[in-house]
Amino acid sequence: MLVLRRVVVGLLALVACGNLLLAQTEAVKDIPAQLSWAYLWDDAVHGPSPDPQPVQIPGSTMKYSMQQARNMFSTVDWFPEAHPSIPAVVALGRRPDLRACGGCHRVEGTAGADSANLAGLPAAYIVQQMADFKSGARKSALQSRPPENLMTLAAQVATDEEIQAAAKYFSELKPRQVIRVVETNAAPTTTVLRYFYIRQGESQEPLGRRIVEVPDDFEQYELHNPRATFTAYVPVGSLAKGQALVESKSNPAMACTSCHGADLRGLADLPSIAGHSPSYVARQLYAFKIGVRNGAGAVLMKPVAERFSEDDIVAVSAYLASLSP
Ligand code: HEC
Ligand code: HEC
Repeated sequence: MLVLRRVVVGLLALVACGNLLLAQTEAVKDIPAQLSWAYLWDDAVHGPSPDPQPVQIPGSTMKYSMQQARNMFSTVDWFPEAHPSIPAVVALGRRPDLRACGGCHRVEGTAGADSANLAGLPAAYIVQQMADFKSGARKSALQSRPPENLMTLAAQVATDEEIQAAAKYFSELKPRQVIRVVETNAAPTTTVLRYFYIRQGESQEPLGRRIVEVPDDFEQYELHNPRATFTAYVPVGSLAKGQALVESKSNPAMACTSCHGADLRGLADLPSIAGHSPSYVARQLYAFKIGVRNGAGAVLMKPVAERFSEDDIVAVSAYLASLSP
């Protein structure tokens, strides 16, 4: 029922935003077809106006409404006992342009396919990435998409103190496994809602050589339950192929473990690459490959990513997502 209402509202919005939609379609076209699943974007389809009625979610004693969950300047905190005290920049942001980090990354850092998992990343790495977003050294291949755009805006307007506080907070969180990976030839039939695939009933369609990453329960993700889970349907054979590329036995200098640590969960100031959203990882590998992610650390990643075909990016993203974070 909810999905049906969304589609009806979406059709109305489609009429109103014809020009905007055209611009989006053009932008997405620049992404190689085999990676388009990592850059989903359809803003024309909005949900019904967010419900102001407070609800509960499994395992939490808190009550928040969908309206509160959607507020980008006040983050809902379903499990307040599960994390250190939240700095203002993560919980509230600062109007007009600094949306709360927790609004997109969730207060447990877990996030989803549309953003980035920050839980447990080294603080120095987070600070460096904020500097790279701010200077423009780090961009996305589809920088005009709203999540990427608003991330860059946040980095541009946050003060050094706010960035230090957010980096310390996210670095102290324990990573959580929120992705399950399934190798298959058939994926659920999906439609795109903003930046996500969502399931359309129980039917299936051929997966092809792409990844379909779907929220298991879209309402939970939209309610900003930081433990909302995703399933990534990946092509048969991609896990073994991804593992071989990650191990890179024929060229040990390119082995991911040599820089990202034996368990790929990061080493010193280098980030963990295990158990993260395959949509996020694919966007990064492609950004390194084409040179739009070009900060100081990217010098080490470019030769690695440059060798990857689009099919390799699918395989590596699938394999890394299957590891525990
Ligand atoms: C409007 C949503 C939004 C807000 C608000 C936001 N981010 Fe992000 N952030 C993103 C998205 C989207 C990405 C991933 C971009 C991509 O896929 O290339 C990202 C990526 C990042 C990364 C890179 C992670 C990595 O593994 O390299 C860091 C660090 C980060 N954000 C920190 C922050 C901090 C700190 C704040 C608050 C000051 C913040 N973000 C606010 C959406 C947001
Ligand atoms: C020579 C060292 C080195 C090797 C080898 C290496 N990496 Fe990296 N990797 C880095 C550095 C440094 C960064 C941080 C880049 C930055 O600051 O923008 C990084 C970042 C990344 C990121 C982005 C992480 C994030 O949170 O945004 C991914 C994904 C990644 N590497 C995957 C891989 C994979 C897959 C391999 C093996 C096929 C690999 N790396 C091998 C040094 C390396």
